[in-house]
Amino acid sequence: MEEIHHAKELLLKKLETLEDKQQILRAPELKDLYSKIKEQPEDQRATYGQAVNELKMELEAQASELQPPVSKLEPIDVTAPFDVNTQLPALLPTRNGTTHPITREMQKISDIFYRMGFEVSPSREIDDEYHMFTSLNFPEDHPARDDYDTFITEEGWIAPAHTSTMQNRIIQARKEKLEAGEPIAVLAMDRVFRNEDLDARHEHTFTQHEGVYVGKNVTVGQLVGTLKLFLTTYYEKEIDVKITPFYFPFTEPSFEFSLSCPFCSDDVDCKVCSNERWIELLGCGMMHPNVLEMAGVNPKVYTGFAWGGGVERLVMMKFGIEDVRNFNSGKLSFLRQFK
Ligand code: DAH
Repeated sequence: MEEIHHAKELLLKKLETLEDKQQILRAPELKDLYSKIKEQPEDQRATYGQAVNELKMELEAQASELQPPVSKLEPIDVTAPFDVNTQLPALLPTRNGTTHPITREMQKISDIFYRMGFEVSPSREIDDEYHMFTSLNFPEDHPARDDYDTFITEEGWIAPAHTSTMQNRIIQARKEKLEAGEPIAVLAMDRVFRNEDLDARHEHTFTQHEGVYVGKNVTVGQLVGTLKLFLTTYYEKEIDVKITPFYFPFTEPSFEFSLSCPFCSDDVDCKVCSNERWIELLGCGMMHPNVLEMAGVNPKVYTGFAWGGGVERLVMMKFGIEDVRNFNSGKLSFLRQFK
C-alpha cells in the first residue's frame, strides 16, 4: 500500500510535465504496480488490486481534465510538406481500392486474345475525320456518318465513336511484316464517345474492343471461329454463335454477330435475353478492299476480317448487371462488389 501511495505521488508529478496527458496511462510505474498484484499474499491481493485500479481511474480522470482543449492544439498547415509540421496528422480510416470492373475485364479480354496470337494495342481518345470515317470507306456526306452520333470540335477534332478509327493505322504500321509473310492480328481497346440519349443500355462514354486480322486467304469461317473461341473462353462455357447480314461501309460482306444467351435454359424466363435466346453482340465482316488499299495493302493479294463491339455489354451479361450507367457512376456500393 505504501508502494501505491509513493507511485501515485510520482505519477501525478509526471502528469504535469507530459504534453500528451494520456501517456500517463502507459507509464512504467503504473505497469509495475499491475505486475505486482500477483506477487501479493493471497489475502491482500484483492485490496491491492482494487487500489491500483482506483489509482488508474484517478489518473485517467486527471489526464482528461488537464488535456488542453482541441482549439489550443497547434494548427497544422495542410498545404505544407509533411516534415514542416512536427506531428503527422492521424490518418483517416481507409480501405484498399479495387480495380474498376471494366479495367479488370479488359485485362481478361486482352489475355484471351493474346493467347490466340493477337497483339493488344490501345486506341485513341481524339482523332480526325480521315481515320474515323474516310479511311473506313465512308463516302463524303454519306448518311452512314450520321449513324455514329459523333462529338466533334469546331476545329474538326473528333472524340472517336468507334475503335475502328484505328484500323488504318494498325494495318499501315505492320505492312512490312505482312509482306514478310506474317499475318496482322491486333486487338485494340479503348473508350469511345457518342452523343446518345442515355438509358440503361446507352452511355455517352463506353469501351469498345476491335479486332483486325489481315493475311492471305482469310475467310468468314476464321472470323466466326475466332469470336466463338473467344466467347467460349470468356464465359467459360460452350457458346453458340450466329451471323446475320448487315451493313457497314468498311466491310463487305458485313454481319451482325449474335451469341446464344449464356444465361438461360429453355424453359425458364430469362431477364438477360427476354427469352430471345440470341443476343446481338457486335458488328463484323470481311475488310472492304478500299480499306485495305487506303492502308497500303494490296487487296488482290491480302484479305482480312475485323470486328468491333462494346466491352460493357460483355461484362453486363457476365455479371447480370442491368444498367450500363453503373460503370461511370462512381458508386462505391457497385464498384466494391468487384474485388
Ligand atoms: N465500328 C462499328 C460500330 O461501332 C463496329 C464494327 C463493325 C467494327 C464491323 C468492325 C467491323 O471492325 O468490321 O458500330
